[in-house]
Amino acid sequence: MNTKLRYGMVGGGPGAFIGEAHRRSINIDGKAELVSGWFSRSFEKTKERGRELGISEDRCYATFEEMAKAEAAREDGIDFVVVVTPNVSHYSICKAFLEAGIHVSCDKPLAVSVAQAEELERLANDKGLLFLVTYTYMGHVTARHAREIIKAGELGKIRTVVAEYPQGWLAYEGEWGGKQGEWRCDPEQSGNTNCLGDLGTHIENAVTTMTGLKIKRVLARMDKVVPGRKRDDNDFVMAEFENGATGLFWSSQIAIGHDNSLRVRIYGDGGSIQWFQEEPEKITVIKKDGTITEVHRGYSSIAPEAAKYGRLPSGHPEGWFEAMGNLYKSFIECIEAKKNGTFTPDMIDYPTVSDGVEGIRFVEACLKSQELGNVWVDL
Ligand SMILES: NC(=O)c1ccc[n+]([C@@H]2O[C@H](COP(=O)([O-])OP(=O)(O)OC[C@H]3O[C@@H](n4cnc5c(N)ncnc54)[C@H](O)[C@@H]3O)[C@@H](O)[C@H]2O)c1
Repeated sequence: MNTKLRYGMVGGGPGAFIGEAHRRSINIDGKAELVSGWFSRSFEKTKERGRELGISEDRCYATFEEMAKAEAAREDGIDFVVVVTPNVSHYSICKAFLEAGIHVSCDKPLAVSVAQAEELERLANDKGLLFLVTYTYMGHVTARHAREIIKAGELGKIRTVVAEYPQGWLAYEGEWGGKQGEWRCDPEQSGNTNCLGDLGTHIENAVTTMTGLKIKRVLARMDKVVPGRKRDDNDFVMAEFENGATGLFWSSQIAIGHDNSLRVRIYGDGGSIQWFQEEPEKITVIKKDGTITEVHRGYSSIAPEAAKYGRLPSGHPEGWFEAMGNLYKSFIECIEAKKNGTFTPDMIDYPTVSDGVEGIRFVEACLKSQELGNVWVDL
């Protein structure tokens, strides 16, 4: 008997980036099977991708609206949908699937306004549907270890956070970036921010997930450095958390020499941590007595709540796919539990629609801060 869940994908057509990454990550545990899709706005390309993926033609759709309705009506319809299209389209696509009663996984940023994001949250809650927002990096075992040791008080009271996410791939207009760069720089497709929505939301999620703190207010400077660019490509944000701690965040797409350098440093009154996504197999913990410990995934020093997501012994490197796979592991377990009546909210161990809303609140407050002349704005 096939006990796999069934899922559909919106986006992830020929030449797309993140859709294929989602498919590979979901496949790691083999608990869900791709059975339908609207992969591209071109029906021909959707069918082409469907054929490559072995999906029957009657489950390749010409529009996402048709897909949501048809899949909801089928006895063997999809259990969840994966939304991996450019940012501006997230809201209407997610809404259509939630209204059809289907669980949703959507990539970040969740939407392009707080009003949209809150509506998705309300819809999911009203309908009792699960909603994963794929902030990939928080799937890393070492990132989860940071969350666990901070929760256990190992760093004491958190005082300040410095986090950065520099990339260099959009340092020039037109020359670099390809299809992915094109839509990110186009307000019609990425919304009212580019870099902050793309990278700053990862910082906001990493920092608040690891520390458990909420951001109270921000002061942002959002620059368009490359001549002719219509949206931000280099952002500095000062933040104040609800416990009085402070934060300094830098996100950039013009930082030549950096690939995907999300780095988080968190300082408490009892110690600090340093975590770097390009070296996700380790995390450095420094105690106030000066002891410096490099904690490696795969060893007993990793907190059990984080270690349970490891799949390989130490020294057999895990990476980005596994991190995304870990988010799906919890999401899929929760859907299975919903189906067999054993679900309880404390099972959720992935970023939810509410985390997605927080990301958009952060973006909107930064935009307002920039617009008002770089002043403090409450979230
Ligand atoms: N979690 C992460 O680390 C991460 C990394 C990269 C991208 N993302 C997010 O994933 C989403 C997709 O990014 P990508 O880099 O894969 O983009 P992409 O351009 O590579 O792929 C987008 C896909 O969506 C399809 N599509 C459907 N509706 C569309 C529409 N209205 N406009 C344009 N294309 C449409 C395109 O045909 C294409 O197949 C974005 O929201 C992005 O922020 C997340």
